[in-house]
Amino acid sequence: MRLIIVGFGNVGQSFAKLILSRSADLYSTYGVNPRIVACIDKKGAVVCPSGIDLQKLLDIKKIKGTVVEYRSEGCKSLEDDVVEQTDSDVLLELTPTNLQNGEPGISNIISAMRSGKHVITTNKGPLALAFPSLMELANYNNVMLRFSGTVGGGTPILEFAKRCLKGDRILSFKGILNGTTNYVLTRMEQGLSFESALRDAQEKGIAEATPELDIDGYDAAAKVSIIANWVMGMKKTICDVERIGIAEVTLERIEEAQKRNNSIKLIGMTENRKLIVRPMEVSKFDPICVNGTLNAVTFSSEHSGQQTIIGRGAGGMETASAVLRDLIEIKNSVYEM
Ligand SMILES: NC(=O)c1ccc[n+]([C@@H]2O[C@H](COP(=O)([O-])OP(=O)(O)OC[C@H]3O[C@@H](n4cnc5c(N)ncnc54)[C@H](OP(=O)(O)O)[C@@H]3O)[C@@H](O)[C@H]2O)c1
Repeated sequence: MRLIIVGFGNVGQSFAKLILSRSADLYSTYGVNPRIVACIDKKGAVVCPSGIDLQKLLDIKKIKGTVVEYRSEGCKSLEDDVVEQTDSDVLLELTPTNLQNGEPGISNIISAMRSGKHVITTNKGPLALAFPSLMELANYNNVMLRFSGTVGGGTPILEFAKRCLKGDRILSFKGILNGTTNYVLTRMEQGLSFESALRDAQEKGIAEATPELDIDGYDAAAKVSIIANWVMGMKKTICDVERIGIAEVTLERIEEAQKRNNSIKLIGMTENRKLIVRPMEVSKFDPICVNGTLNAVTFSSEHSGQQTIIGRGAGGMETASAVLRDLIEIKNSVYEM
Protein backbone atom coordinates (compact mmCIF):
# COMPACT_ATOMS: atom_id res chain seq x y z
CA MET A 1 0.00 0.00 0.00
CA ARG A 2 1.31 3.43 -0.95
CA LEU A 3 1.06 5.97 1.85
CA ILE A 4 1.47 9.74 2.18
CA ILE A 5 2.37 10.99 5.65
CA VAL A 6 1.49 14.61 6.47
CA GLY A 7 2.99 15.58 9.83
CA PHE A 8 6.25 13.89 10.76
CA GLY A 9 6.41 14.67 14.48
CA ASN A 10 5.99 12.38 17.46
CA VAL A 11 3.24 10.18 15.96
CA GLY A 12 4.56 10.26 12.37
CA GLN A 13 8.09 9.27 13.38
CA SER A 14 6.79 6.61 15.78
CA PHE A 15 4.75 5.17 12.91
CA ALA A 16 7.87 5.06 10.71
CA LYS A 17 9.77 3.24 13.49
CA LEU A 18 6.87 0.83 13.95
CA ILE A 19 6.83 -0.02 10.24
CA LEU A 20 10.59 -0.53 10.23
CA SER A 21 10.52 -2.87 13.22
CA ARG A 22 7.46 -4.84 12.12
CA SER A 23 7.81 -5.03 8.32
CA ALA A 24 8.30 -8.82 8.00
CA ASP A 25 5.57 -9.63 10.49
CA LEU A 26 3.16 -7.11 8.95
CA TYR A 27 3.48 -8.78 5.59
CA SER A 28 3.35 -12.39 6.78
CA THR A 29 0.50 -11.87 9.26
CA TYR A 30 -1.65 -9.21 7.60
CA GLY A 31 -0.42 -9.03 4.00
CA VAL A 32 0.35 -5.35 4.57
CA ASN A 33 3.41 -3.94 2.84
CA PRO A 34 3.40 -0.18 3.41
CA ARG A 35 5.44 2.01 1.10
CA ILE A 36 5.78 5.69 2.02
CA VAL A 37 5.68 7.63 -1.26
CA ALA A 38 5.56 11.14 0.23
CA CYS A 39 6.22 12.78 3.56
CA ILE A 40 5.36 16.37 4.48
CA ASP A 41 6.28 18.56 7.43
CA LYS A 42 6.00 22.30 8.07
CA LYS A 43 8.93 23.12 5.77
CA GLY A 44 7.76 21.12 2.72
CA ALA A 45 7.57 17.69 1.15
CA VAL A 46 9.63 14.86 -0.22
CA VAL A 47 7.99 12.69 -2.89
CA CYS A 48 9.45 9.37 -3.96
CA PRO A 49 7.16 7.06 -6.00
CA SER A 50 9.44 4.04 -5.55
CA GLY A 51 9.31 4.41 -1.75
CA ILE A 52 11.19 6.48 0.81
CA ASP A 53 13.97 4.83 2.83
CA LEU A 54 12.39 5.27 6.29
CA GLN A 55 15.54 4.89 8.36
CA LYS A 56 17.25 7.53 6.24
CA LEU A 57 14.20 9.79 6.53
CA LEU A 58 14.20 9.47 10.34
CA ASP A 59 17.93 10.26 10.44
CA ILE A 60 17.54 13.29 8.17
CA LYS A 61 14.61 14.62 10.22
CA LYS A 62 16.64 14.21 13.41
CA ILE A 63 19.77 15.90 12.06
CA LYS A 64 18.35 18.56 9.72
CA GLY A 65 14.95 19.09 11.34
CA THR A 66 12.97 18.65 8.12
CA VAL A 67 12.11 15.92 5.63
CA VAL A 68 12.79 18.33 2.74
CA GLU A 69 16.52 17.63 3.11
CA TYR A 70 15.98 13.97 2.09
CA ARG A 71 17.77 13.43 -1.22
CA SER A 72 17.73 10.25 -3.24
CA GLU A 73 17.44 9.15 -6.85
CA GLY A 74 13.88 9.54 -8.13
CA CYS A 75 12.88 11.77 -5.21
CA LYS A 76 11.98 15.42 -5.39
CA SER A 77 10.82 18.19 -3.12
CA LEU A 78 7.40 19.57 -4.00
CA GLU A 79 5.65 22.55 -2.57
CA ASP A 80 2.03 22.47 -3.70
CA ASP A 81 -0.83 19.98 -3.95
CA VAL A 82 1.32 17.02 -2.88
CA VAL A 83 -1.61 15.25 -1.24
CA GLU A 84 -3.82 15.56 -4.30
CA GLN A 85 -1.22 15.02 -6.99
CA THR A 86 0.82 12.14 -5.57
CA ASP A 87 -0.45 8.69 -6.53
CA SER A 88 -1.16 6.78 -3.34
CA ASP A 89 -3.75 4.64 -1.59
CA VAL A 90 -3.91 6.16 1.90
CA LEU A 91 -3.20 9.54 3.50
CA LEU A 92 -1.98 9.56 7.10
CA GLU A 93 -3.00 12.99 8.43
CA LEU A 94 -0.89 13.58 11.56
CA THR A 95 -0.65 17.36 11.81
CA PRO A 96 -1.32 19.29 15.06
CA THR A 97 -4.88 19.55 16.37
CA ASN A 98 -6.45 22.92 15.66
CA LEU A 99 -9.88 23.32 17.23
CA GLN A 100 -10.42 26.83 15.80
CA ASN A 101 -10.78 25.95 12.13
CA GLY A 102 -9.37 22.41 11.80
CA GLU A 103 -6.54 23.45 9.48
CA PRO A 104 -4.35 22.21 7.92
CA GLY A 105 -6.02 18.87 8.69
CA ILE A 106 -9.42 19.54 7.09
CA SER A 107 -7.94 20.67 3.75
CA ASN A 108 -5.57 17.70 3.65
CA ILE A 109 -8.35 15.23 4.38
CA ILE A 110 -10.70 16.77 1.79
CA SER A 111 -7.96 16.82 -0.90
CA ALA A 112 -7.14 13.19 -0.23
CA MET A 113 -10.73 11.96 -0.32
CA ARG A 114 -11.55 13.97 -3.45
CA SER A 115 -8.61 12.34 -5.19
CA GLY A 116 -9.80 8.85 -4.17
CA LYS A 117 -7.49 8.19 -1.22
CA HIS A 118 -8.48 6.57 2.05
CA VAL A 119 -7.61 8.64 5.12
CA ILE A 120 -6.31 7.77 8.58
CA THR A 121 -5.98 10.63 11.04
CA THR A 122 -5.04 11.10 14.69
CA ASN A 123 -5.93 14.78 14.45
CA LYS A 124 -9.08 15.60 16.45
CA GLY A 125 -9.64 19.06 14.93
CA PRO A 126 -11.26 18.11 11.61
CA LEU A 127 -13.54 15.51 13.21
CA ALA A 128 -14.55 17.67 16.18
CA LEU A 129 -15.56 20.47 13.83
CA ALA A 130 -16.91 18.64 10.79
CA PHE A 131 -17.49 14.94 11.48
CA PRO A 132 -20.83 14.60 9.62
CA SER A 133 -19.68 16.36 6.45
CA LEU A 134 -16.33 14.55 6.33
CA MET A 135 -18.10 11.19 6.67
CA GLU A 136 -20.48 12.18 3.90
CA LEU A 137 -17.57 13.13 1.68
CA ALA A 138 -15.86 9.81 2.40
CA ASN A 139 -19.03 7.91 1.45
CA TYR A 140 -19.54 10.01 -1.67
CA ASN A 141 -15.99 9.30 -2.82
CA ASN A 142 -16.21 5.65 -1.79
CA VAL A 143 -13.17 5.87 0.49
CA MET A 144 -12.65 5.05 4.16
CA LEU A 145 -11.96 7.61 6.90
CA ARG A 146 -10.49 6.08 10.06
CA PHE A 147 -9.41 7.83 13.28
CA SER A 148 -8.81 5.32 16.10
CA GLY A 149 -5.95 7.38 17.52
CA THR A 150 -8.10 10.49 18.07
CA VAL A 151 -9.69 8.99 21.20
CA GLY A 152 -7.63 7.08 23.76
CA GLY A 153 -4.31 7.16 21.85
CA GLY A 154 -3.48 3.47 21.48
CA THR A 155 -6.39 2.24 23.63
CA PRO A 156 -9.05 1.02 21.18
CA ILE A 157 -11.96 2.91 22.75
CA LEU A 158 -13.74 3.62 19.46
CA GLU A 159 -13.27 0.08 18.08
CA PHE A 160 -14.36 -1.44 21.39
CA ALA A 161 -17.68 0.38 21.18
CA LYS A 162 -18.14 0.04 17.45
CA ARG A 163 -16.95 -3.52 16.91
CA CYS A 164 -17.06 -5.45 20.17
CA LEU A 165 -20.54 -4.16 20.98
CA LYS A 166 -21.75 -4.64 17.39
CA GLY A 167 -25.45 -5.48 17.16
CA ASP A 168 -26.16 -3.88 20.51
CA ARG A 169 -27.30 -0.26 20.86
CA ILE A 170 -25.14 2.07 22.89
CA LEU A 171 -27.42 4.31 24.94
CA SER A 172 -24.81 6.47 26.66
CA PHE A 173 -21.16 6.72 27.63
CA LYS A 174 -19.23 8.33 30.44
CA GLY A 175 -15.50 8.55 31.01
CA ILE A 176 -12.14 10.17 31.55
CA LEU A 177 -10.87 11.18 28.14
CA ASN A 178 -7.94 13.46 28.94
CA GLY A 179 -4.78 12.16 30.64
CA THR A 180 -3.33 15.58 31.48
CA THR A 181 -6.29 16.77 33.55
CA ASN A 182 -6.57 13.37 35.18
CA TYR A 183 -2.92 13.61 36.23
CA VAL A 184 -3.43 17.12 37.64
CA LEU A 185 -6.53 16.05 39.62
CA THR A 186 -4.72 12.94 40.88
CA ARG A 187 -1.84 15.09 42.17
CA MET A 188 -4.31 17.50 43.79
CA GLU A 189 -5.85 14.52 45.62
CA GLN A 190 -2.34 13.96 47.00
CA GLY A 191 -2.37 17.51 48.41
CA LEU A 192 -0.78 19.67 45.68
CA SER A 193 -2.44 22.97 44.72
CA PHE A 194 -3.80 23.28 41.16
CA GLU A 195 -0.82 25.47 40.16
CA SER A 196 1.78 23.05 41.62
CA ALA A 197 0.06 20.02 40.10
CA LEU A 198 -0.01 21.70 36.69
CA ARG A 199 3.66 22.72 36.98
CA ASP A 200 4.54 19.13 37.92
CA ALA A 201 2.65 17.87 34.83
CA GLN A 202 4.52 20.37 32.64
CA GLU A 203 7.91 19.38 34.09
CA LYS A 204 7.15 15.73 33.36
CA GLY A 205 6.15 16.56 29.75
CA ILE A 206 2.54 15.48 30.40
CA ALA A 207 1.06 18.98 29.99
CA GLU A 208 1.90 21.42 27.20
CA ALA A 209 3.52 24.79 27.95
CA THR A 210 0.15 26.25 26.86
CA PRO A 211 -2.16 23.76 28.57
CA GLU A 212 -5.54 25.47 27.97
CA LEU A 213 -6.73 22.89 25.43
CA ASP A 214 -6.58 20.24 28.15
CA ILE A 215 -7.29 22.25 31.30
CA ASP A 216 -10.33 24.05 29.89
CA GLY A 217 -11.82 20.78 28.64
CA TYR A 218 -11.57 21.41 24.87
CA ASP A 219 -9.60 18.21 24.20
CA ALA A 220 -12.13 16.11 26.13
CA ALA A 221 -14.99 17.91 24.38
CA ALA A 222 -13.49 17.11 20.97
CA LYS A 223 -13.33 13.43 21.95
CA VAL A 224 -16.90 13.44 23.29
CA SER A 225 -18.14 14.78 19.95
CA ILE A 226 -16.16 12.14 18.02
CA ILE A 227 -17.55 9.28 20.16
CA ALA A 228 -21.09 10.65 19.91
CA ASN A 229 -20.90 10.77 16.11
CA TRP A 230 -19.14 7.47 15.52
CA VAL A 231 -20.67 5.28 18.19
CA MET A 232 -24.12 6.79 18.74
CA GLY A 233 -24.84 8.11 15.26
CA MET A 234 -25.37 11.71 16.45
CA LYS A 235 -24.60 14.59 14.14
CA LYS A 236 -22.78 16.92 16.53
CA THR A 237 -19.68 19.10 16.67
CA ILE A 238 -17.53 20.32 19.56
CA CYS A 239 -19.74 23.44 19.66
CA ASP A 240 -22.63 21.25 20.89
CA VAL A 241 -20.68 20.12 23.98
CA GLU A 242 -21.48 21.84 27.30
CA ARG A 243 -17.96 22.29 28.67
CA ILE A 244 -16.42 23.22 32.02
CA GLY A 245 -12.70 22.63 32.63
CA ILE A 246 -10.81 21.95 35.86
CA ALA A 247 -9.30 25.38 36.57
CA GLU A 248 -11.94 26.14 39.22
CA VAL A 249 -11.62 22.81 41.08
CA THR A 250 -10.42 23.56 44.62
CA LEU A 251 -8.55 21.41 47.12
CA GLU A 252 -11.53 21.85 49.47
CA ARG A 253 -13.90 20.31 46.92
CA ILE A 254 -11.51 17.40 46.42
CA GLU A 255 -11.20 16.82 50.19
CA GLU A 256 -14.99 16.93 50.63
CA ALA A 257 -15.39 14.34 47.88
CA GLN A 258 -12.74 12.14 49.49
CA LYS A 259 -14.69 12.08 52.77
CA ARG A 260 -17.51 10.42 50.78
CA ASN A 261 -15.03 7.95 49.22
CA ASN A 262 -15.29 9.82 45.92
CA SER A 263 -12.84 11.56 43.58
CA ILE A 264 -13.28 14.64 41.41
CA LYS A 265 -12.70 13.68 37.76
CA LEU A 266 -13.09 15.56 34.48
CA ILE A 267 -15.89 13.52 32.93
CA GLY A 268 -16.99 13.49 29.30
CA MET A 269 -20.44 12.00 28.84
CA THR A 270 -23.87 11.94 27.24
CA GLU A 271 -26.97 12.62 29.32
CA ASN A 272 -30.36 12.53 27.60
CA ARG A 273 -28.45 12.91 24.31
CA LYS A 274 -26.79 16.08 25.61
CA LEU A 275 -22.98 16.15 25.35
CA ILE A 276 -21.21 17.25 28.52
CA VAL A 277 -17.66 17.77 29.82
CA ARG A 278 -17.34 18.84 33.45
CA PRO A 279 -15.59 17.99 36.73
CA MET A 280 -17.78 15.54 38.64
CA GLU A 281 -17.67 13.46 41.80
CA VAL A 282 -17.08 9.80 40.96
CA SER A 283 -17.10 6.89 43.41
CA LYS A 284 -13.66 5.39 43.99
CA PHE A 285 -15.33 2.00 43.34
CA ASP A 286 -16.51 3.03 39.88
CA PRO A 287 -14.25 1.33 37.27
CA ILE A 288 -13.77 4.68 35.46
CA CYS A 289 -12.17 6.13 38.61
CA VAL A 290 -8.60 5.62 37.30
CA ASN A 291 -5.62 7.74 38.31
CA GLY A 292 -2.56 9.38 36.74
CA THR A 293 -2.66 9.78 32.96
CA LEU A 294 -4.99 6.81 32.39
CA ASN A 295 -8.21 7.11 30.39
CA ALA A 296 -11.35 5.04 31.04
CA VAL A 297 -14.76 4.95 29.39
CA THR A 298 -17.93 3.05 30.34
CA PHE A 299 -20.43 2.36 27.55
CA SER A 300 -24.00 1.54 28.57
CA SER A 301 -25.69 -0.63 25.99
CA GLU A 302 -29.23 -1.84 25.60
CA HIS A 303 -28.63 -5.58 25.97
CA SER A 304 -25.15 -6.21 27.34
CA GLY A 305 -25.21 -3.62 30.13
CA GLN A 306 -22.19 -1.59 31.12
CA GLN A 307 -18.73 -2.24 29.71
CA THR A 308 -15.60 -0.31 30.64
CA ILE A 309 -12.34 0.03 28.75
CA ILE A 310 -9.22 1.43 30.44
CA GLY A 311 -5.80 2.32 29.04
CA ARG A 312 -3.15 4.91 28.37
CA GLY A 313 -4.68 7.81 26.46
CA ALA A 314 -1.65 9.16 24.62
CA GLY A 315 1.97 8.55 23.60
CA GLY A 316 3.63 8.61 20.19
CA MET A 317 4.13 4.88 19.82
CA GLU A 318 0.75 4.03 21.33
CA THR A 319 -0.98 6.37 18.90
CA ALA A 320 1.10 5.06 15.99
CA SER A 321 -0.17 1.58 16.87
CA ALA A 322 -3.72 2.92 16.41
CA VAL A 323 -2.72 4.19 12.95
CA LEU A 324 -1.41 0.75 12.10
CA ARG A 325 -4.67 -0.87 13.28
CA ASP A 326 -6.60 1.47 11.00
CA LEU A 327 -4.29 0.63 8.11
CA ILE A 328 -4.84 -3.10 8.58
CA GLU A 329 -8.59 -2.50 8.72
CA ILE A 330 -8.51 -0.56 5.46
CA LYS A 331 -6.40 -3.28 3.85
CA ASN A 332 -8.85 -5.97 5.00
CA SER A 333 -11.98 -4.05 4.01
CA VAL A 334 -10.94 -2.67 0.67
CA TYR A 335 -8.47 -5.08 -0.81
CA GLU A 336 -9.92 -8.42 0.27
CA MET A 337 -13.62 -7.91 -0.38
N1 LIG B 1 1.36 12.53 20.62
C1 LIG B 1 0.31 11.91 21.14
O1 LIG B 1 0.39 11.21 22.17
C2 LIG B 1 -1.03 11.99 20.44
C3 LIG B 1 -2.08 11.16 20.88
C4 LIG B 1 -3.31 11.20 20.21
C5 LIG B 1 -3.49 12.10 19.17
N2 LIG B 1 -2.46 12.92 18.80
C6 LIG B 1 -2.68 13.86 17.68
O2 LIG B 1 -1.91 13.45 16.57
C7 LIG B 1 -1.45 14.59 15.83
C8 LIG B 1 0.07 14.55 15.74
O3 LIG B 1 0.59 14.59 17.05
P1 LIG B 1 2.16 14.67 17.33
O4 LIG B 1 2.33 14.44 18.78
O5 LIG B 1 2.88 13.84 16.33
O6 LIG B 1 2.42 16.22 16.99
P2 LIG B 1 3.84 16.92 16.71
O7 LIG B 1 4.93 16.13 17.33
O8 LIG B 1 3.67 18.34 17.07
O9 LIG B 1 4.02 16.80 15.12
C9 LIG B 1 3.24 17.52 14.22
C10 LIG B 1 3.85 17.43 12.86
O10 LIG B 1 3.03 18.14 11.93
C11 LIG B 1 3.86 18.97 11.13
N3 LIG B 1 3.10 20.12 10.67
C12 LIG B 1 2.68 21.19 11.38
N4 LIG B 1 2.02 22.04 10.57
C13 LIG B 1 2.05 21.48 9.33
C14 LIG B 1 1.56 21.88 8.06
N5 LIG B 1 0.89 23.03 7.90
N6 LIG B 1 1.76 21.06 6.99
C15 LIG B 1 2.45 19.91 7.14
N7 LIG B 1 2.94 19.48 8.32
C16 LIG B 1 2.74 20.26 9.40
C17 LIG B 1 5.02 19.35 12.02
O11 LIG B 1 6.10 19.77 11.20
P3 LIG B 1 7.56 20.14 11.80
O12 LIG B 1 8.15 18.80 12.21
O13 LIG B 1 8.27 20.74 10.65
O14 LIG B 1 7.31 21.05 12.95
C18 LIG B 1 5.27 18.01 12.73
O15 LIG B 1 6.06 17.19 11.92
C19 LIG B 1 -2.00 15.80 16.59
O16 LIG B 1 -3.18 16.23 15.97
C20 LIG B 1 -2.26 15.28 17.99
O17 LIG B 1 -3.29 15.98 18.65
C21 LIG B 1 -1.25 12.88 19.39
